[in-house]
Amino acid sequence: MTKSKTGLTLEFSNSPEVLTDPDPINEIIGPYGASIWPIPFADLDPKTRDLIQKKALSPDEVNRLERSLLLSREELLKVIEKAGRDPQIPGGGSLQTKEVNSGMTFPSLLLAEEGADYSQFDKFHLNLAADGTGVDEILQMLSGDGFRLIYRLPDETILTLTLSCTTNDSGWLLTHAGPHPHMGSMSRASSGTKILGQVIGPAEWEMKFVP
Ligand SMILES: [Fe+2]
Repeated sequence: MTKSKTGLTLEFSNSPEVLTDPDPINEIIGPYGASIWPIPFADLDPKTRDLIQKKALSPDEVNRLERSLLLSREELLKVIEKAGRDPQIPGGGSLQTKEVNSGMTFPSLLLAEEGADYSQFDKFHLNLAADGTGVDEILQMLSGDGFRLIYRLPDETILTLTLSCTTNDSGWLLTHAGPHPHMGSMSRASSGTKILGQVIGPAEWEMKFVP
């Protein structure tokens, strides 16, 4: 894995080029509905900043982090607009949603556990409701490193975006739309990596694996 001082790398399956800054990365992934920006933690209260750095969290601590950091509907819509796309459902749809096969509900704080094997989830998929309506995914990477978002383009090129939090002062805010083939992979993330995921749109949706 290539390390960069920004904590971001975008690698291409068909080129040795590696991009490490958000702006040129957004020029590449933007046309596919994805975008990424740093999120500064400077304005957060000290307790929240402490929780961001903890390796394991109690349910109460998870609640507290979620209360401090979850984005409101207005903020979510702004992120989607900044990424240059329309929300999958006008107005954003439901903010509390469920993936029907796993029963997993969002918003959710995903925390990479020591020794866990996440490779079984490394499969390209689309996130769609039964009627084909897509979801909007908005992820905040709060801590850790080696979290990857992998996108497959229509010409089969694979883009691998690897996110790391290189300091305690900032994380990453990323969004993409569910109907593009993608995977969010924890399989190379360091233990304690935290991703706060909001998946909005249809109240119930399915992770549809694509060959
Ligand atoms: Fe997804």
